[in-house]
Amino acid sequence: MKNVLLLFTVLIVPAVLLAQTTKQSIPQLTKSTVKQVVAAMTVEQKAKLVTGMGMIMPGPTADNDKKNKKKDSALAALSSMMPPVDVDDKNIPEKVPGAAGRTHGFKQFGIPIITVSDGPAGVRISPIRNNDATKTFYATAWPVGTLLASTWDTSLVKKVGIAFGNEVKEYGIDVLLAPALNIHRNPLGGRNFEYYSEDPVVAGNITAAIVNGIESNGVGTSIKHFAANNQETNRNSINTIVSERALREIYLKGFEIAVKKSQPWTVMSSYNYINGKYTSESHDLLTNILRKEWGFKGLVMTDWFGGKDPVAQMKAGNDLLMPGIPMQTKAIVDAVKNGTLDEKILNENAERVLQLVLESPTYKGYKFSDKPDLAQHAKLSRAAASEGMILLKNNNNTLPLHSAKTVALFGNTSYDIIAGGTGSGDVNKAYTVSLLQGLNNAGYAVEKDLKNIYETYIADAKAKRPKPKFFFELVPPVPEQYLMAELLNKEATNSDAAIITIGRNAGEGADRQVDNDFTLSAVEKDLIKNVSETFHAKNKKVIVVLNIGGVIETASWKDFPDAILLAWQPGMEAGNAIADVLSGKVNPSGKLATTFPVNYTDVPSAKNFPGRELNPDPKRKSNFFGGVPAEVIYEEGIYVGYRYYNTFNVKPSYEFGYGLSYTNFKFGNLKLSSIDLKNKITATVTVTNTGKVAGKEVVQLYISAPGKTLDKPADELKSFAKTNLLKPGESETITFTINAADLASYDTNAAAWVTEAGKYIVKIGASSLDVKAFSSFNVAKEIVVQKVTNQLVPKVQINELKK
Ligand code: BGC
Repeated sequence: MKNVLLLFTVLIVPAVLLAQTTKQSIPQLTKSTVKQVVAAMTVEQKAKLVTGMGMIMPGPTADNDKKNKKKDSALAALSSMMPPVDVDDKNIPEKVPGAAGRTHGFKQFGIPIITVSDGPAGVRISPIRNNDATKTFYATAWPVGTLLASTWDTSLVKKVGIAFGNEVKEYGIDVLLAPALNIHRNPLGGRNFEYYSEDPVVAGNITAAIVNGIESNGVGTSIKHFAANNQETNRNSINTIVSERALREIYLKGFEIAVKKSQPWTVMSSYNYINGKYTSESHDLLTNILRKEWGFKGLVMTDWFGGKDPVAQMKAGNDLLMPGIPMQTKAIVDAVKNGTLDEKILNENAERVLQLVLESPTYKGYKFSDKPDLAQHAKLSRAAASEGMILLKNNNNTLPLHSAKTVALFGNTSYDIIAGGTGSGDVNKAYTVSLLQGLNNAGYAVEKDLKNIYETYIADAKAKRPKPKFFFELVPPVPEQYLMAELLNKEATNSDAAIITIGRNAGEGADRQVDNDFTLSAVEKDLIKNVSETFHAKNKKVIVVLNIGGVIETASWKDFPDAILLAWQPGMEAGNAIADVLSGKVNPSGKLATTFPVNYTDVPSAKNFPGRELNPDPKRKSNFFGGVPAEVIYEEGIYVGYRYYNTFNVKPSYEFGYGLSYTNFKFGNLKLSSIDLKNKITATVTVTNTGKVAGKEVVQLYISAPGKTLDKPADELKSFAKTNLLKPGESETITFTINAADLASYDTNAAAWVTEAGKYIVKIGASSLDVKAFSSFNVAKEIVVQKVTNQLVPKVQINELKK
């Protein structure tokens, strides 16, 4: 016993004391500054801090989650393609299964692991864990980004953000990998559904609204994909060749607006190269422009496995490499040790990671409930969805569907609606309300024989196709069937009106096709034509509902139906939200934030999408993980979307900013605060509801600039607002403020944002072509709004489109 006591006194006590003093001398994130903590870390620890903990497997689909993953050979094959994960990390259980990634934690410094998760339409996590379906973790599927932008309603989008952010927080996530705001450069972009608009003012302001909403919960966002990531083909290898002006005015502008108006916690760099450099390795982009010019204060992370050279990424200011692989950590350590990476740079990157950790709910010890108010959020998802739907056509007040009681419901997606696109923008939701259910809930009967025909057909087609194995695997909608004239006749007799839903889906990893995707298939066109003719012969109306995530061709068939409702992909409450608009419970007030051209060949980037492979080899295909060397030249320059159609007088099928209502509005009293622009000018306009039902109007302010020194688009959106719900006869006065900076163009030769002198025409529009009021003001002398330096300079001459 004596010996034991002696041993205790001699060995154990000093050891404990030593351990305590060492612990006390190690700076703790709780007590010390970020700089002190980083200063106490070894190079190895810092290099780990700036690379994530890896990705064991992409977020599973609900189905896969229930299965024994080992038996799933395809999933196993996918796993084997994944870069290795640190063995130690693998054994640390995930706080939130199915989340996209996490950072390294260091207990000795009081640094916890933080968790990040997709994505733009809802929190994407595993809904069922350990095969236990008694407790589920489903998330709200919000309407897709394109729909949210079509609301043009920043306060509604902020409200969505507030509820969305609450779900992020209650499911234990620190940073949401959203929103996504790349420009709709081309209708075939596979992820356009996640993105907002062809216009940076819409994209930037909608982004700022949702970021402010989400982050008001004390969780972070990652605005993505920075930048010029406008296609999925060869997404990891595509070199985007773009002029400085187009880059700054079109592809960076939305990010700039979002950074200045919402200062998001993080930005996600993209997969592509810009003018020969990976964005994640571009000091010009991530440090000179993002941080120095715009004043971004947060952290930059890569897209998953994005870029090639971890050292270049550190130097560029890409602080965090996600999801992180051991090879990257090693490369960083080696570079510091052999002097090719200044440790100071690594310190700065590590400090930014710690700043992010400090803000996170995990660090603050937030006790998440795993029980967000999903019922309440579903209501908001439904309301937001109906606000962003766009009434494209409504002859003779076909809608709302007052008198129709029994509806003949055509089109597979009427029964099997698409809530949102695929890939990381998908959401594991508890349910999706079909249009059939939505109509039933709204009190409409649906013709039963037709319903049975469709349900049987869809079930058969689905049974025959292989089940999706991966979360990103695109499952195209079941192709439409040809319906005999006899059946159509019967339906026209037995029902009061026809609804035909046309569905499209797309997602991460692939762009869309022109044939049978942008265009309608022959069977779809026949369906619309034949149903229209048969129902019209019996004096009955036909409504087409578009359940799509991206732009399609409409010009060849839009004359057939009486009404067309663009419902986009409306999230989990899809059917209810569509029924709200069809029934008139909600008066549609969405407007197009992206143009519907007549033909694909009218699209200004059509001949430059998705670019060309540098060493074409028909046998080698680009895939989800790896692309082949390729380049795309943005020859259309600044003439993207309506900037092109309006300038070059190319008539679209439905123009940017377009959308009908069940009521009418009058615009009057446009007044400018001055006839000369000093620093800013205000414009006021009064909007009156002149129709019979309450409604909201989107008021759009376009500017036509003098265009004497620089080529300028005919019209450019500079501001927008949505009225409140105006009762018949009610008016609202909207005030817009325009600054010199809003009018500036990027003058590449001068490396400056310049507002040229001359006469500026203010156009207040109900769309980009439907101008309701004009006025003008003068800029007496050229204003150099901001002098910068040339960045991301193209290495080759670009044959850019000019007026
Ligand atoms: C996507 C990102 C996403 C990330 C994590 C990538 O493949 O491009 O948008 O946030 O995966 O899931």
